[in-house]
Amino acid sequence: MRRAGLFALAAGVVLAAAVSAFAAGAAPSAERGAALAERWCAECHATGTGQRTADVAPAFAGIASERSPDYVRGFLANPHVRGDMPTFELSTAEIEDIVAYLATLK
Ligand code: HEC
Repeated sequence: MRRAGLFALAAGVVLAAAVSAFAAGAAPSAERGAALAERWCAECHATGTGQRTADVAPAFAGIASERSPDYVRGFLANPHVRGDMPTFELSTAEIEDIVAYLATLK
């Protein structure tokens, strides 16, 4: 009886840890988005605020104020559609991180 109780407790702790790890991994992170932008996008886009940008690509601050999150999701999921932007193999989680980062630039 005592053992069964301990087992149930241990199982509960493991489950709670798994759930919170999943939540942490799934939540969009503006910080990760900023790092992704710096790494993959800064070559062409001004990725921060207050940066000037060459004519190559629109600045992220402008994209953030002009475009909806859904537009950006759609664009990043299928970037071939327009212009010279190369295709990125971004995961859904990475796209959400970038969308979260863009929201901080508005
Ligand atoms: C090699 C240069 C290059 C890189 C690297 C690049 N982009 Fe672009 N991007 C462009 C160009 C050029 C356009 C404009 C395309 C057009 O309007 O026809 C564009 C357009 C966009 C747009 C659409 C803007 C709008 O208002 O329609 C988004 C969103 C975007 N880029 C996000 C990103 C993200 C996020 C990354 C990094 C993962 C990235 N880009 C990396 C060149 C680049």
